[in-house]
Amino acid sequence: MRHLIVPEDISASEIEAIFAVSQDLQAKYNAGRRDALLPGRVLALVFEKPSLRTRVSFQAAMVHLGGSSVFLGEDTGFAGSRESIADFGRVLSQYVDAIVCRTKSHDTLVSLAAASSVPVINGLSDYCHPCQALADIYTLRSHVGRVAGRTLTFVGDGNNVARSLAILCGQLGMRFVLASPKDYRFDALFRAHVQQILPNAEIVETTDPIAAVEGAAVVYTDVWASMGQEQERAKRMAAFASFQVNETLMKRCPDAIFMHCLPARRGEEVTDAVIDGPQSVVVEEAANRMHVQKGLLAWLLAR
Ligand code: CP
Ligand code: NVA
Repeated sequence: MRHLIVPEDISASEIEAIFAVSQDLQAKYNAGRRDALLPGRVLALVFEKPSLRTRVSFQAAMVHLGGSSVFLGEDTGFAGSRESIADFGRVLSQYVDAIVCRTKSHDTLVSLAAASSVPVINGLSDYCHPCQALADIYTLRSHVGRVAGRTLTFVGDGNNVARSLAILCGQLGMRFVLASPKDYRFDALFRAHVQQILPNAEIVETTDPIAAVEGAAVVYTDVWASMGQEQERAKRMAAFASFQVNETLMKRCPDAIFMHCLPARRGEEVTDAVIDGPQSVVVEEAANRMHVQKGLLAWLLAR
């Protein structure tokens, strides 16, 4: 039994295997077919924060695969408000075949996985968002083919999405560049962790977004204040003001595609002209969440 709590829980060769299933299922889906690989299987979605993409893409994926899902919101008494996380996980995993969980604190997710007898998939925590990064790399591959040797430049906060992309890039031989204000870089603990698990990973941090996007295959951004950081919004708006992805910046890398995990704060981290422009692949990227998660579910549950 395997969990997906952090991106490094799945190796580069396992990512390839998942993508192969995803590609096959995507081709069938586009041809109007559904492959019922998981008949009768049930997926629980336990969410402590709002979601459109993660929630619906997993739920639709389960229907297409012949299974079903049950959504558990905050009224379920998760994270110790009604019973311990360990009791919650031990019991819930008696009813379902896998659990997707979105938590405020990454530690909650780790505790849930420790108690669960079925695979637990991270549907976003404050620390990382591995399902998002998997779909992003899958999307990039469909545009550039081989990803090794390419550069992904993330302009913005060194947040959960950036950390996940940095790890995945390191696993797949890609260069990862983070352009952010100094106070919003990766912390020393994360850098030491990457150095330990991926000593050859190329991660560059800079405060210069213009230099950072030169030669990039992808320019990526995300909100400046993530869920749970709403009280820091004003401070962050000021700190990130010169890190907006706009047409002037994208003109420095005319061959790059633009990505955003969404939801976006248009006019803040990205302008309408970029997110709706010719370099943007954000809708395809969001659609790929479902295709990649089908591959992931089939891979996890067929074991
Ligand atoms: N990108 C993403 O995870 O979107 P949701 O928050 O809508 O699930
Ligand atoms: N960094 C964002 C990602 C949302 C998908 C957040 O955590 O709110």
